[in-house]
Amino acid sequence: MNLAIVGATGLVGRKFLEVINEYNIDVDNLYLFASRRSAGVTIEFQGSKYKVIELNEKNIANVKVDYVLFSAGEKVSKEYAKCFNRIGAVVIDNSSAFRMEDNVPLIVPEVNDIDEYFESKVIANPNCSTIQCMLPLKVLNDAFNLQAVDYTTFQAVSGSGMSGILDLEKCSQGQNAQFYPYSIFNNCIAHIGNFDSNGNSKEEIKMINESRKILNLPNLKATATCVRVPITYAHSVSICATFEKDVDIEKARSLLSKFKGITLCDDVKNNIYPMPIDAVGQDNVLVGRLRLDQNNCKRLLLFCVADNLRKGAASNAVQIMQNIENKKMSGKNI
Ligand code: A2P
Repeated sequence: MNLAIVGATGLVGRKFLEVINEYNIDVDNLYLFASRRSAGVTIEFQGSKYKVIELNEKNIANVKVDYVLFSAGEKVSKEYAKCFNRIGAVVIDNSSAFRMEDNVPLIVPEVNDIDEYFESKVIANPNCSTIQCMLPLKVLNDAFNLQAVDYTTFQAVSGSGMSGILDLEKCSQGQNAQFYPYSIFNNCIAHIGNFDSNGNSKEEIKMINESRKILNLPNLKATATCVRVPITYAHSVSICATFEKDVDIEKARSLLSKFKGITLCDDVKNNIYPMPIDAVGQDNVLVGRLRLDQNNCKRLLLFCVADNLRKGAASNAVQIMQNIENKKMSGKNI
């Protein structure tokens, strides 16, 4: 396939290349786009050197691509996604620009794959913390009918791109914060994105709205508290989920352990539970600390952890691309 990456010099952009290489995807032509600042910089992929191209309409018109993976922020996606559609490319966008548009599929492949023709030619990759929660919640919803969910997140600084990692590094050396509102070193900041008039942050609203869309539960009651923590890679989420049926915890464990994309790490007697240091570098979502609310057998508590740059971003997007391509190859009109 012919492929373009927008934001190729960024953390997720580089992770796209790593994942494409690991998944052994055959790439005929590859075009790497970033801002004017990076034009001409060389990036190596599978033994060949590629020069970064400045993203603008003229340069887009000069390439021929089947798929383009975007990770350069909402503004860039809004400005340039349609230019790629005009040259016939399917856009898979990691930003929040199109996620809640009715005609744009918002996809976690293990949960809600695309099997029909989609007119928009844009597919949205969900929010990083949302993606990892969708796998266990899909399993549990199928078994016990999800009614409500409350999330509390512990999000790594790499979720903010290079600026987040650099801010943690500088603050840990005693310098002032340049990117976050306060020092993230030895601190937790419950502020990810701007606050709305009700006091919810943008990240919290994304988790609530995107969960409803992906799980196809428009009336799901949901709350979220999103917190930036001073670790570099992998997001953790504490989930409290309420169901219509009583939860059979052994059945929940068994179903979760069998679901593609989940690794069950749930053996507290032996101190086994999900941790960021174990999630980094893999695509599976680690799920554990399962327990019932002592006062309500319809409420289940669990903890899940995933590599935010892989399943939370690059791997999920590449898996979407692979699924579409496989379906096209098998003759589906998609
Ligand atoms: P550049 O390196 O040229 O600034 P991260 O999230 O890791 O900080 O990466 C953001 C990515 O988005 C980088 O590849 C960055 O390119 C790219 N980017 C930012 N602004 C633009 C823009 N206006 N046009 C194209 N790419 C952009």
